[in-house]
Amino acid sequence: MSDRPIPDLTENQAKAELARLAMEIAYHDRAYHQNDAPEITDAAYDALRQRNAAIEARFPGLIRSDSPTNRVGGAPDTGFAKLRHKVPMLSLDNAFSAEDFAEFCDRARRFLGLTDPLAIVAEPKIDGLSINLTYEDGVFVRGATRGDGTEGEDVTANLRTMPHAIPARLNGPAPKSIEIRGEVFMTKADFLALNAAQEASGQKLFANPRNAAAGGLRQIDAKVTAERRLSLFAYAMGESSEPIADSHDAYLERLRGWGFSVNPLSRRLPTEADAPAFQTEIGLSRAALPYDIDGVVYKIDDLTLQRRLGFVGRAPRWAIAWKFPAEQATTRLRAIRIQVGRTGALTPVAELEPVNVGGVLVARATLHNEDEIVRKDLRIGDTVIVQRAGDVIPQIVAVVTDQPRGTEAYAYPDLCPACGSHAVRPPGEVVRRCTGGLICPDQRVERLIHFVSRNAFDIDGLGGKTIQEFYAEGWLHGPADVFRLPEREAEIATREGWGKLSAANLSRAIRTRQTIALERFIFALGIRRIGESNAKLLARHYSSFANWREQMLKATTIGSDERLALGSILGIGSAIAEELADFFGEARNVAALDELAAALTIEDAAQAEAADSPVAGKVVVFTGTLETMTRPEAKARAESLGAKVTDSVSKKTDIVVVGADAGSKARKAAELGIRTLTEAEWRALIDG
Ligand code: IVH
Repeated sequence: MSDRPIPDLTENQAKAELARLAMEIAYHDRAYHQNDAPEITDAAYDALRQRNAAIEARFPGLIRSDSPTNRVGGAPDTGFAKLRHKVPMLSLDNAFSAEDFAEFCDRARRFLGLTDPLAIVAEPKIDGLSINLTYEDGVFVRGATRGDGTEGEDVTANLRTMPHAIPARLNGPAPKSIEIRGEVFMTKADFLALNAAQEASGQKLFANPRNAAAGGLRQIDAKVTAERRLSLFAYAMGESSEPIADSHDAYLERLRGWGFSVNPLSRRLPTEADAPAFQTEIGLSRAALPYDIDGVVYKIDDLTLQRRLGFVGRAPRWAIAWKFPAEQATTRLRAIRIQVGRTGALTPVAELEPVNVGGVLVARATLHNEDEIVRKDLRIGDTVIVQRAGDVIPQIVAVVTDQPRGTEAYAYPDLCPACGSHAVRPPGEVVRRCTGGLICPDQRVERLIHFVSRNAFDIDGLGGKTIQEFYAEGWLHGPADVFRLPEREAEIATREGWGKLSAANLSRAIRTRQTIALERFIFALGIRRIGESNAKLLARHYSSFANWREQMLKATTIGSDERLALGSILGIGSAIAEELADFFGEARNVAALDELAAALTIEDAAQAEAADSPVAGKVVVFTGTLETMTRPEAKARAESLGAKVTDSVSKKTDIVVVGADAGSKARKAAELGIRTLTEAEWRALIDG
């Protein structure tokens, strides 16, 4: 994020930043809601939205039609049809102590004007994702995610791949129509197995079972859902054409009878006074449960009382989630290891004396960055508190100071541990980076792993471990070497863990990927800040590999039209332009790129926007001084809409856009009878 104070922004800067923020926020929305793989913290995300809103407040005229302010993060987006819930799906208020819980009961009693204790049903709270299942005449007809609570995504096809958890037909008599709600989740064992498989094939790990379950359910290809081994506990009612039961407990019994799993630990507590003991009991069995829970949900049993209590805001007055504290344990910090990532970022990882934290053996914890080590005053040999809060990657909470301390403060390396190059930390940044680039073996291996990963070249059978081995063997230096591996098929077949069949499969997987879409190709290069969405924007804009390459080489010159265009088009911010320019400014990178391209057929990108634009195929000339955009920006935008922009006016010219103080070109256009537009008219034409 630019940290230029908002009052200092010029209109052009504000416009460029709003474009970039819109794109960036949309990217993180997708990462969070669609890909279930958030890349930034909630606080960093909020900061982006706040800056966007503050710029919009200062320049209301610049508010974009796709402004993030007009979108709600959780609202369903692409890929799935929307489904409206007949009764909204709500969330729960939280309690963190026995006092909070007692207050919840008192409030409900006051509201109802009762004095007697309340009977309560207690259910372990699984952190999965809630879904709404609609049955008509006892037959499963539709299923949707919670979405924004009013409207979710239609994941019926995916849910049909889970007949073990979602009956296709309800057992026995059923109402004409009913919405049944429950939690889709992944067991600890299935989650660990999935991540092990992801790691073996060099793919990204899921942060926690919730993200893995959500990602597994929201697959366009329902076959992938079927492979994910998802489970479900049913626990709530939505709309129903007839009354089902008088109490929640009896409702759960109906659910069991119809063929659903109801959490076997769910229990009716005759009075609310039994809740604290139940909370303790479940807390003690928590670590041994086959799935992660983060608390217990307490629901007033009597459905008549539930109806009378109703809702406040988005939460019912008749239920509360009493959360557990995060699971913790103490252990010894053995060492701090520095990992070097694909873009050279140095990340410290704590190596721990293995310890059981809530049923999972923990031997490593993330330390985020070097400041974190200083802030916590971590020294090798310290006794530390580790915590798992639903996440796979445990964290170090603090040093236990009344235990013997490690003696020396940890000295963060300023040389890369993998290649010995300087590792530098630019002022104002938290990350220290290895400057070794392609000479750094760790960066090379990480780039190769990224190169073959699922959303890049997607080469089956070439996981992280294999890449490391082949790299050590000297078979893989750069990405182009991947396509020479089939020449070594016979040799690979004789390696440990390989055979003729698996080696032949690998060769085939590699050959079938020698034709690749431009956007995947760009993403696969692993250039910093060029994730999937930026790769797509670049591919769409430059359409062919040859054109992209040529424009990027020109863009290495600071101040060139191509550089300015790159910086302002399609919301690609200047920091991203700089990364691309740096990449293309390095001769070795260009050589590696060319060697790679020579081994491939890179398919041109579809011109999404261009086809239906009013200026597609038109020859356009800009002349004079433009006020709302720079010349390179105007050119880039026109080209992205399928126009051809030239410098001089001729009979072939279709449109001349005339800015202030235009000279001979405007006169020539008039002589030739060519359509001329003012800047405002041009904008109206292209912005529709
Ligand atoms: S009842 C109005 N019961 O917790 C009632 N929710 O924090 C709303 N959850 O969105 C839900 N276990 O995803 C209910 N036994 C349980 C639950 C449960 C997990 C989740 C659910 C909900 C969230 C609210």
